[in-house]
Amino acid sequence: MRRLGLALLVLAIATGIIGCGTKSKTSGGNNIQPASNKTGFVIGMSQCNLGEPWRVQMNKDIKEAAAKRPEIKEIIFKDAQNKTTVQQDQVREFINREVDLIIISPKESRPLTKPVAEAMDKGIPVIVLDRAIEGDKYTCFIGGDNVKIGEEAGKFMVKLLNGKGKVVELKGLMTSVPALDRHKGFMKGIEGSQIEIIFDADCHWLEPDAQKEMASALARFPGKGEIDAVYAHNDPSAHGAYIAAKDKGREKEIKFIGIDALPHEGVRYVREGILDATFQYPTGGEEAIDAAIKILQGKKVPKNIKLGTKIFTKENADNGGEAL
Ligand code: FRU
Repeated sequence: MRRLGLALLVLAIATGIIGCGTKSKTSGGNNIQPASNKTGFVIGMSQCNLGEPWRVQMNKDIKEAAAKRPEIKEIIFKDAQNKTTVQQDQVREFINREVDLIIISPKESRPLTKPVAEAMDKGIPVIVLDRAIEGDKYTCFIGGDNVKIGEEAGKFMVKLLNGKGKVVELKGLMTSVPALDRHKGFMKGIEGSQIEIIFDADCHWLEPDAQKEMASALARFPGKGEIDAVYAHNDPSAHGAYIAAKDKGREKEIKFIGIDALPHEGVRYVREGILDATFQYPTGGEEAIDAAIKILQGKKVPKNIKLGTKIFTKENADNGGEAL
């Protein structure tokens, strides 16, 4: 009897210990040390510009996500003011300062490929956000699926125009991958329809450029019904096109589609009836912080992380859009 009691006591203690161990692991690991004991990471973040609301949002998302993570001591934010050479220098400055990790949202692919490779050679991991660089010398790429977004925009255009019409395409900077992919996807989306691109221009992602290019398109096709719709690679460009059309009193006869879907930008335009649709392009800021910490703690992260999208139209905008 006494032996049985002792055996039960041993069993109880053993299960108690095991139970305790399991609990602390699943309860968020408050008592568990991170894989690496090193904390107080310093991250350098090079943003290609802060002139566009979407980029301001990205930095905000990064800042907010980092504020929740005690592992991060500091994020040094740099704004390259849309100048490639400035952005190249920023990456090199981060290398010299020996930051623990670099996040870069590059202006364009080719010229930023080398500085990123230099950081990698020095053992500094690099997370590339939104616009890709060339090759695969980086730690992790995070961005939206631009081919899919373009294709969805194309399919929506086919529906919007009942399969037939004349479209102006206002492209993003064509030395950046999202612009190439948004074009490629759109062409796939309109395949088999009678939709025709009658005018296109590189608007460098900028509203004033899009407004100017749209003014040229309107001048070249001055008759009512000569332009049925605009496919703009981002919401600022779609808005610029709308303003140009409004200047000529033609905004009601033309449909407008954009991309980004920030609540206070594209989604607002949809609600106001300026845009017919916008497609969400997530910033990836939160995912970047999550990946950064994992990398710095020696954990594995996927080489490429693709983010999802949503369509916003007048019908669904109040319900948070529709996931695609
Ligand atoms: C901002 C921006 C966004 C666009 C993204 C593409 O600079 O132009 O509007 O979706 O960059 O890289």
